[in-house]
Amino acid sequence: MNLPLNPSPNSRPIGIFDSGVGGLTVARQLRRVLPHEDLLYLGDTARVPYGTKSPATVVRFACEDTGFLVGRDVKAVVVACNTASAWALEELQQRFTLPVFGVILPGAAAALRRTRTGRIGVIGTPATIRSEAYTRAILGQRADARVFARACPLLVPLVEEGWVNHRVSRLVLEEYLRPLLRQRIDTLVLGCTHYPLLKRVIRQVVGPDVALIDSAESCARHVAEQLQLRTLLTAHRTAGELRACLTDETTRFTQVARRFLGEPVAPAEKVELAGVD
Ligand code: DGL
Repeated sequence: MNLPLNPSPNSRPIGIFDSGVGGLTVARQLRRVLPHEDLLYLGDTARVPYGTKSPATVVRFACEDTGFLVGRDVKAVVVACNTASAWALEELQQRFTLPVFGVILPGAAAALRRTRTGRIGVIGTPATIRSEAYTRAILGQRADARVFARACPLLVPLVEEGWVNHRVSRLVLEEYLRPLLRQRIDTLVLGCTHYPLLKRVIRQVVGPDVALIDSAESCARHVAEQLQLRTLLTAHRTAGELRACLTDETTRFTQVARRFLGEPVAPAEKVELAGVD
């Protein structure tokens, strides 16, 4: 067999991880902007959710997730999980030598490009909101912006239940978003992997005048720009593949994953993660 001795390092996959299957919303956007790239997705389904865990636990899990992807020889890592980006991105960038990208900075930058009044709402898991990562990222770029943040712990289970256009989700969103709307926000950051699936209902609740920032979309654009800048894009012109690994078997994986990814997914490989010091 004539295998190339030194396959191009750029043809290696981009690694993506999330606490579960929600990060497939980021994979979906990556496939849109970088259709020729292979993606290796890790969902830590054995330990989901991260959004209710302590910062130290989230950082440890994120290091183990990244270590796994690095062990599979990816060329870059995308932290698709907002909670892990909020708490662990700096640690990952210090610990690992390959490029590691998160969702927070691109989402904050996109919100600042869209806002006219500087009054920005942010919704996310309790851990993401407690980190104040979005608030710091927004104020770091525009000191006179006003950020109104709200944790929305019920939204992840509602989306996982598939209740994305359900009246219960609408009621819950009305309750969560009322205080932000009272603050006259003109832009709302969807700071969680699961929220893009609720966009329709969120739009109905906030009305036509509030800009919705999909952190998955802005992250994918940022990753594409950065890989191009670092000359890390693949030269392949065939459609890229998406392979998924999970830390726990989930019988509903292909069904749930399809909802998040917007296209069928091959069955996932069950993997074990090694601990980190
Ligand atoms: N992936 C998480 C996030 O974006 C949501 C699910 C969880 O709590 O783990 O924050």
